Amino acid sequence: MASPTFSQYGYSWLRDGAWIAYAMDKVGQHDSADAFYRWGIRVLTAHEAHVDSLLAKLQQGIAPDETDYLPTRFTVGGEIGKDEWTEFQLDGYGAWLWGLADHCQTADAALWQEARQAIQIMVRYLAALWQSPNYDCWEEHREQIHTSTLAAIYGGLRAVQRLDPALVPADLPSQIRDYVLEHCVTTGGHFCKFIANDAVDASLLWVAVPYRLVEVDDPRFCATFDKIVRDLHVPDGGVHRFRVDNYYGGGEWLLLTAWLGWTYLEMGQRERAIPLLHWIEAQADADDQMPEQVEHHLLLPDYLQHWIAKWGTSAKPLLWSHAMYLVLDSLLND
Ligand code: BGC
Repeated sequence: MASPTFSQYGYSWLRDGAWIAYAMDKVGQHDSADAFYRWGIRVLTAHEAHVDSLLAKLQQGIAPDETDYLPTRFTVGGEIGKDEWTEFQLDGYGAWLWGLADHCQTADAALWQEARQAIQIMVRYLAALWQSPNYDCWEEHREQIHTSTLAAIYGGLRAVQRLDPALVPADLPSQIRDYVLEHCVTTGGHFCKFIANDAVDASLLWVAVPYRLVEVDDPRFCATFDKIVRDLHVPDGGVHRFRVDNYYGGGEWLLLTAWLGWTYLEMGQRERAIPLLHWIEAQADADDQMPEQVEHHLLLPDYLQHWIAKWGTSAKPLLWSHAMYLVLDSLLND
């Protein structure tokens, strides 16, 4: 689950889970990653009828209800949660496919055959919906089309296609890529947070790392990267999600700080990645627990109390923070 202690995060998100599993593979704990993917295969296969009835509605031109879409998170028992949530998010499905392909390649080739039915369901789902507005990876802006969500969908489908071309329509990943390059680049030449919003969001790092919609030396990515560093990276500190983030006052996120470090590594700038790893380590408490975000340089401090009153202090431990720390640490040790 995302966090065993935070009031709202006692669920398993496919997005968080894929990165937690990736970290466990990186540190050699393949059984843990395997358990997550086997769980996902069971849960997603059990929702085949759910997906097929959504696709039938779309084919008949009937507008789906919100509950017709798959959720972004499941209970650990694989059920859809009963609490209200911003469920329709597609990036987690892309992340899950990307992570599964990586897990099968690096740790468990035999699992691929067992996963094929779940993969086919996911591919049908994403092929039908990738152009639909849906909540972003921060669970906001239901009405928009988000660049990093499209990158995750592209990355997942492309990873499956590389391993098993028969599972993905031949030109689907390239259609998504072309769409992003046509609609999600601003006149300033950088990728945008969502179509018609020229701001950057730190999740735009995913466009190159790891989803490879473009490479890290692509001029559009370089412009995005520079703007993320300028607008969202606190000097000697961590990385914010986006400038107008009010969630817990808009702190610095450990997992995004690790992502910046990973990207520096891919750019050949190891010396810039190391201090980021040290900064993340310094945010752990005396019990080595890492939070989702820290409050040293809040963007919108007036909102902090609102969230604490609503849901309690922000999540700690957040498994995705621990995971991205492990990813950066293992990459630095490689
Ligand atoms: C974040 C999501 C994350 C979820 C669980 C939310 O606050 O915006 O990206 O999946 O927490 O960690």
